[in-house]
Amino acid sequence: GAPVTQDISKIETGQMVITEWRGQPVWIIRRSPDQIKQLPSLNSRLRDPDSKNEDQQPKYAQNGYRSIKEEWLVMIGVCTHLGCSPKFHGEIKPEPFDAEWKGGFFCPCHKSRFDMAGRVFDGVPAPTNLKVPDYHFVDDHTLVIG
Ligand code: FES
Repeated sequence: GAPVTQDISKIETGQMVITEWRGQPVWIIRRSPDQIKQLPSLNSRLRDPDSKNEDQQPKYAQNGYRSIKEEWLVMIGVCTHLGCSPKFHGEIKPEPFDAEWKGGFFCPCHKSRFDMAGRVFDGVPAPTNLKVPDYHFVDDHTLVIG
């Protein structure tokens, strides 16, 4: 499919916008400073904290934020377990979940949780982190996916 252009200038901090590319939902999330700051603190609970699985993101997103810019997270919104649609839980409010999970994405089908970089928390049952598609920034307010 052709690349998709998204204006990101109106996306507020902490907000997620969903677009579509190649028939799949693509999530664009503007992470808050708090969400960015807590990312490294979860490493011991993550299956692949360093994004070593090269199939799950382009090289330029193989870092602690799984992104080009710390603030912007871009991912395919499909659970890596059996393809359900995880729900966004952006607030750092873990109840009724495990108190150590700091929010991110929760898949209602079989209860996989992912952090604010789409990394699978506790490794059950999703086998891998959520997928980051190819993307780039044309300028500060224009993102191209694909
Ligand atoms: Fe998401 Fe099974 S499809 S946990």
